[in-house]
Amino acid sequence: MAEYTIKVRRFQPESGEGPYWEEFNVDLDPSLSVLDGLLQAKDKEDGSLAVRCSCRAAICGSCGMKINGQSGLGCKTQIGEAQELADKFSRASSGEEEALPTHADGPAPIVIEPMGNMPVIKDLITDMESTHWTKIRRVTPWLLPHGEPPEREYIVEPESMIDITQSMACIQCGACVSSCLSMEADPGFIGPAALAKAYRFVGDPRDAETTERLHDLANDPRGIYDCTHCFSCIDACPKGVAPMDQIMRLRRRAGEEGVEDPNSGHDHEIAFVKIIEKKGTLDESLLLQESFAPGFKGKLKPNKRAIREMLGSIPTAIRGIKTGKMRSLHKLIPGVHPKLPDQDDVKAIYRHAEEHNEELNLYIRGEEGEDAQADGTAAEEVTNG
Ligand code: SF4
Ligand code: SF4
Ligand code: FES
Repeated sequence: MAEYTIKVRRFQPESGEGPYWEEFNVDLDPSLSVLDGLLQAKDKEDGSLAVRCSCRAAICGSCGMKINGQSGLGCKTQIGEAQELADKFSRASSGEEEALPTHADGPAPIVIEPMGNMPVIKDLITDMESTHWTKIRRVTPWLLPHGEPPEREYIVEPESMIDITQSMACIQCGACVSSCLSMEADPGFIGPAALAKAYRFVGDPRDAETTERLHDLANDPRGIYDCTHCFSCIDACPKGVAPMDQIMRLRRRAGEEGVEDPNSGHDHEIAFVKIIEKKGTLDESLLLQESFAPGFKGKLKPNKRAIREMLGSIPTAIRGIKTGKMRSLHKLIPGVHPKLPDQDDVKAIYRHAEEHNEELNLYIRGEEGEDAQADGTAAEEVTNG
């Protein structure tokens, strides 16, 4: 047994007061969970401490919360590990990187907060309906087969379901939604959990409305192209769903289907790949031009939309200069960004991908040779990923 201090962000709406912090001392084995610590505090110190939980085994998805700033499940996070992280953060913030793993005045408290990007109902309980379930329903989360249903079950090749097993592991805990940086900037973004759910049906061979689903998600300005690849949802997900990877799969399928999206999201990706091939590094001003009017450089015939979008991006460019992201004015002129001095290695990657018919996708992870199938073919993630 060991003693821990948990510092909980509380909110009791009936009191009429705003949120506040409260510390509780709990005594439990380091291998037990943060949720066990909270339940002990509730049992022994304050029965009004509100926390949602059911299975206590990372199955029901009820106990999403932020622990030391990281979204995850209370029941899947060991309190001993949470303490180590709290001490590490405490040392980092005090500049004592090399110090012993204790705070100057004893161990740092384990900081527990309700999930982000959702309204708080009470203490650690958030409103999952407004930001999570509404968006899950938005993607039509059920199968849409055509024709008469078979007399018994649908029969599919087991291999054809491999691609969606990862998204099927979702337990709807909302941890990815809580950590999503795009949702923080734009609460209307469909979000990682709902888009991972969308891929579960887009990738299902029994579904007959794949094209319609892809058009819908690509045409929504807050759809698949609103994700900024920040990887937060991958870090947060306790079940290995890797929602960002599912979003990249949706984009790949939309590209394969030739879906033209009004946000030029697909053109933007192609422009990105093209510029890296050419320069080995990203010329951001050229990226803008190529995304809205691919290939117009040299022809001097940008279409009206490209001109409109480029003019519309001037405030963003000014913000970039003000915040130091764009340090020099010449970076605003398309095409003057320098090439990497030696980019043979970069070009070799492109050549290899072309010769082996592999799609370049930096976001779907996997090593060559991993997950080899019994018949010797590589798994989908490797060949197409
Ligand atoms: S990778 Fe995309 S979906 Fe995932 S948290 Fe970041 S912005 Fe959100
Ligand atoms: S994708 Fe992962 S983090 Fe997001 S709701 Fe599903 S299980 Fe939770
Ligand atoms: S209590 Fe069920 S997932 Fe944590």
